[in-house]
Amino acid sequence: MLTRNRLIEALEPFSGYVQSAVLYNLLEHGVVEQIVVNEVSARKALESVVTTPERVEALRLFLRTAGYIDNDRATDKLVQIWEARGWYQMMIGGYGRTFLDIGAGFASPAAVPRDGRMVGVGSCEISVHDAIPLMYRVLDQRGKTYRSGIDLGCGSGIFLTTLAEKYPEMRLTGIEPSPEGAAAAVEFVAGSQHADRIDIVNADAIGHLEQTDSHYDFGIISFVIHEILGQDGEDGVRKFLRSLFDTNPGIELLVIDIDYCWDDEERMRDPHRTNYYNHYFLLHPFTDQRLETKEYWTKLYESEGLEVVVQDVDTPGLDETGIVTAMLLRSKENRDD
Ligand SMILES: C[S@@+](CC[C@H](N)C(=O)[O-])C[C@H]1O[C@@H](n2cnc3c(N)ncnc32)[C@H](O)[C@@H]1O
Repeated sequence: MLTRNRLIEALEPFSGYVQSAVLYNLLEHGVVEQIVVNEVSARKALESVVTTPERVEALRLFLRTAGYIDNDRATDKLVQIWEARGWYQMMIGGYGRTFLDIGAGFASPAAVPRDGRMVGVGSCEISVHDAIPLMYRVLDQRGKTYRSGIDLGCGSGIFLTTLAEKYPEMRLTGIEPSPEGAAAAVEFVAGSQHADRIDIVNADAIGHLEQTDSHYDFGIISFVIHEILGQDGEDGVRKFLRSLFDTNPGIELLVIDIDYCWDDEERMRDPHRTNYYNHYFLLHPFTDQRLETKEYWTKLYESEGLEVVVQDVDTPGLDETGIVTAMLLRSKENRDD
């Protein structure tokens, strides 16, 4: 029978749903930044973007009751949300609509829509914390200098500016198939001091490689190879790898992706996996993406004549789940050392 305690527990998912939707909107309108970073009072921050006094008060009381502000100032709970804003950008801004409409994908195999711009923007913001430090570790271990790089599925472009900073001689191209994502990358790169060395192309990975005359000695494909696997199947991934390595024989390709472990009940009990990866894994089959195990990818690369030069995993102190994996690949036929 539904009792008070059972009702309170049953409303927890609903409470999380409403909180994350409201927090995402406050993040995107700069309210959270004002309260947390600029230390503006919640009332003032809300008044700067919300035009109706009743709504200012409603949001203020909502934040106070939920423990995000105290005495009109940020609590640590709100600071944490600000620090983890990339997860809200990607999972609510990018995939919030997908989760809400997931039923549309029950009987129809068509992809449930997502917001491509916010997927790219949010993913790149998350990458600041995980994939970029991981990329740095792999590149430092490799110890080479590159001159011409391509980022396949560049999202908002943060990898491009990071690489331009690391390698002052490097010219870079970012490929992004979402028109809104590509526009966000153009805007982000334009604001960087390395804008003159970075180009953005609105195309998908295979499409771009088929029509470009450019050559690259370094490539990065971060959380995108499983998109190609979902869209074009294993044949599509093989076609992509062949076209990249055939036209750029000496290229080193850094693949950052997921070691898919959803089926492992024991490992999935870890709270990082239940609070994040459980939701992250769910959206993939509904949006034409296909995650695979590290073992699957290792065998596929091997069968394409590629070898792993350096590999690493995780972000110590943040993500120690063993799920985010980096492999620097090169063609076995074109070793230069
Ligand atoms: C999860 S985001 C990753 C963004 C960024 N690389 C990162 O690591 O944060 C996936 C990106 O891949 C792009 N994408 C999807 N299909 C692609 C394809 N076939 N070729 C290139 N990029 C693709 C999406 O538009 C999106 O920006």
